[in-house]
Amino acid sequence: MSETNSQKEWRTAITSNQDGKILIRGYNLDNLIGNKSYAEVCFLLLRGEIPTANEAKMLDAIFVSCIDAGIAPPSSIAARTVFSGGNSLNAAVAAGILTLGDAHGGAIEKSAKMFQDYLKGKEKENLNEAEIKKIAQDIVDDAIKNKKRLAGYGHKLHTVDPRTKRLLEVAKNLNFGGNFIKLAVAIADEFRAKKPEQKLPLNVDGCIAAIISDMGFDYRLGKGFFIIARSCGLVGQVFEEWMREKPFRRLAPNLHEYDGVPERSL
Ligand SMILES: CC(C)(COP(=O)(O)OP(=O)(O)OC[C@H]1O[C@@H](n2cnc3c(N)ncnc32)[C@H](O)[C@@H]1OP(=O)(O)O)[C@@H](O)C(=O)NCCC(=O)NCCS
Repeated sequence: MSETNSQKEWRTAITSNQDGKILIRGYNLDNLIGNKSYAEVCFLLLRGEIPTANEAKMLDAIFVSCIDAGIAPPSSIAARTVFSGGNSLNAAVAAGILTLGDAHGGAIEKSAKMFQDYLKGKEKENLNEAEIKKIAQDIVDDAIKNKKRLAGYGHKLHTVDPRTKRLLEVAKNLNFGGNFIKLAVAIADEFRAKKPEQKLPLNVDGCIAAIISDMGFDYRLGKGFFIIARSCGLVGQVFEEWMREKPFRRLAPNLHEYDGVPERSL
């Protein structure tokens, strides 16, 4: 980078767009189009290099796993409600994305941070089952003692999250099975042993958190993966609302009630 460029206030090392050429991390977008998948170019953009075939397949599987989960989650409800109020598709999709917090989608970031903090310096060590189990025990004991909710565990509907089961299979087939994935699974085993009544599975967010950690991604990108994938789901949800429903949706009377003080005089 020239000295002049380095002194400019707005700088990026991701994409250059000059003289009619768009280069993503140095690769001409013209050559990426038609030759690389969306997941491959996402990896290139976020990590700076073209992924291996297995990394590309793994990332693609992650995106597919959280593309949509129906009309009921907070993001779908928010997106459709904002559209129903008479707003544009982009405002409605943005509203859906704004719901992504610690309990929904955003759990990937917190969960990946926890895995990466606990395994700091040991990422590449070949930890044995007993060593992983010990770390998992410490994490679960601390959660139980201090009544902490561990991001990446538990689910409103599932006692075994079907997406987790499939993602773990895919990860295994693609040779991802490092310390992070082992730890994530060991924590769920510990919960099952110590709090069987709570039935806290490793959910899709926790599973993605472990896989992206094994793939070498910074935990701060965690929510980003969910946003990339779920944006498509939310566009679909909002478009369907647009095509099927009349504006100004409101809750049906049987779905809400007033339970405050009765009428009173001033
Ligand atoms: C997803 C979630 C909101 C579902 O909650 P829920 O099924 O309604 O469970 P509840 O809030 O009724 O909690 C039931 C019990 O399990 C415990 N619990 C639930 N999730 C827990 C977690 N992740 N870690 C530790 N304990 C948990 C609660 O503390 C509660 O314990 P108690 O009965 O002793 O009070 C919840 O599991 C959670 O907050 N998970 C972490 C965030 C996350 O991973 N979100 C992504 C979802 S895909």
